[in-house]
Amino acid sequence: MNNIVLIGFMGSGKTSVGKILSEKLNKPFIDTDTIIEKETGYKIKDIFKIFGEKYFRFLENNLIDNIAKEQSSFVIATGGGLPFYLKDKKKLKKLGKIIFLKNSKKTLINRIINDSNRPLRFQANLFEQRQYCYESIADIVLSCDFISLDQLADNILLRIKNKELL
Ligand code: S3P
Repeated sequence: MNNIVLIGFMGSGKTSVGKILSEKLNKPFIDTDTIIEKETGYKIKDIFKIFGEKYFRFLENNLIDNIAKEQSSFVIATGGGLPFYLKDKKKLKKLGKIIFLKNSKKTLINRIINDSNRPLRFQANLFEQRQYCYESIADIVLSCDFISLDQLADNILLRIKNKELL
């Protein structure tokens, strides 16, 4: 499949870059958290509070199955934990090119610390636990700390094109 799948820790810019890429590539943009919020009628923080994290991960897993059934392709911003908790990682690989937006822990913590719709923002060691998963599943890893969202989107486009030439 021909989707562009953005992965990375909370606050890494998946949604912001995804929207820019979607325009540049003329592919519709979807955000897994937004879809889950729309489908359930609950904010992410309330899904965690009322139904628990396990249920949220179940919803994420189901959503990936549903996206895989779609005919058209998308730019997809995934929730930060989605690749980590996906039961079958191959399902994400099959969706298309996976881009890991890599940032330093300091940058990310500064961005998410005050966002109450991110229930896991204070969880210790989450950043360290997830890095290997992101790196190992990604087709392209991009360091994002010191570049603008537009530059990042252009870098991604360039890297995708180069990969297609290989
Ligand atoms: C999560 C990241 C969040 C959201 C949920 C859980 C995580 O998405 O899916 O709060 O486990 O890292 P963002 O990466 O868009 O913040």
